[in-house]
Amino acid sequence: MPKLEGKVAIVTGGGRGIGREHAIALARAGAKILVNDLGASLAGEGADEGPAHGVVREIEGLGGEAAANGENVADFAGAKRMVEAALEAFGRLDILVNNAGILRDRMLVNMEEHEWDAVVQVHLKGHFAPTRHAAAHWRERSKAGEEVRARVINTSSPSGVFGNVGQANYGAAKAGIVGFTLIAAQELQRYGVTVNAIAPNARTRMTEAAFGEIPPPEEGFDPADPANNSPIVVALCADEAQNVTGQVFFVYGGVVNMLRGWEAGELFASRERWDPDELLHELQDRLPEGAAPPGMLESMHRAGGQSMRER
Ligand SMILES: NC(=O)c1ccc[n+]([C@@H]2O[C@H](COP(=O)([O-])OP(=O)(O)OC[C@H]3O[C@@H](n4cnc5c(N)ncnc54)[C@H](O)[C@@H]3O)[C@@H](O)[C@H]2O)c1
Repeated sequence: MPKLEGKVAIVTGGGRGIGREHAIALARAGAKILVNDLGASLAGEGADEGPAHGVVREIEGLGGEAAANGENVADFAGAKRMVEAALEAFGRLDILVNNAGILRDRMLVNMEEHEWDAVVQVHLKGHFAPTRHAAAHWRERSKAGEEVRARVINTSSPSGVFGNVGQANYGAAKAGIVGFTLIAAQELQRYGVTVNAIAPNARTRMTEAAFGEIPPPEEGFDPADPANNSPIVVALCADEAQNVTGQVFFVYGGVVNMLRGWEAGELFASRERWDPDELLHELQDRLPEGAAPPGMLESMHRAGGQSMRER
């Protein structure tokens, strides 16, 4: 188990599901945890301090140190207060796990403006705002001469990296989180901050809302246990992982697949500007069967996983 003693982590949305497991796993590795959770419904409505406080009590029960925080991660000023709360409670900040999220699934043709806005707000701005304030803190420490070893772990989704029908809002936000991860990794490397993302899978209220009840196996390893997503988070937080940044890790049960993102592919090169007709011929010649995304299920199989729907 990598030793994270003396380190301080914020886990957003740490009151339930996957975030709760990250908080407990990081605490078991020795980190002190600010458990952030607005306590919202799955659709992002309401607020309840209960889940964050519950996880704080669990961590304390394990002999760890934790404090609760109820800020909304998509509120720019609230995210700043959250970073300040970690500094106030524990005197430092080393790790930010951006995990909080909501769902408002709908087919694109029926999607309402508020369903788009709320999901993009919580996921995309909810990653930017905490990272922005944590990064300013780490830059200050780096500029003061400290050798900073800080971590941001973002949360994308198979829906964002492979594309899932019915989730245009959520998948676009989760794909945006990958783009954000790539840029933040490059910008923050100079301050000693690595930025990676996971594309997790688990039985939580989120997947049970989408796919119905997902019963655990009667015996043996449970690939849908949300705790399966946390070992890669803890590993990336170790000092020894200082040179791994800008990566996206798909996780399903015991499978961790470091995904290849957009990279150079089929090349259509001409010495001059293409004529559209010639280019169309070229497309038809090279793609006699056409081209379309394989969809999330097939992509997940290729990555070594399954959809919760298939369980
Ligand atoms: N469960 C899966 O299989 C799966 C798959 C891919 C991605 N994810 C992602 O993993 C993350 C965790 O999902 P989960 O399945 O554990 O869901 P969950 O609903 O069990 O937990 C999410 C938590 O985030 C909190 N939250 C919501 N909005 C917030 C806000 N604005 N500020 C602070 N906290 C807020 C909620 O109160 C909740 O406790 C999400 O980003 C989700 O999109 C989950």
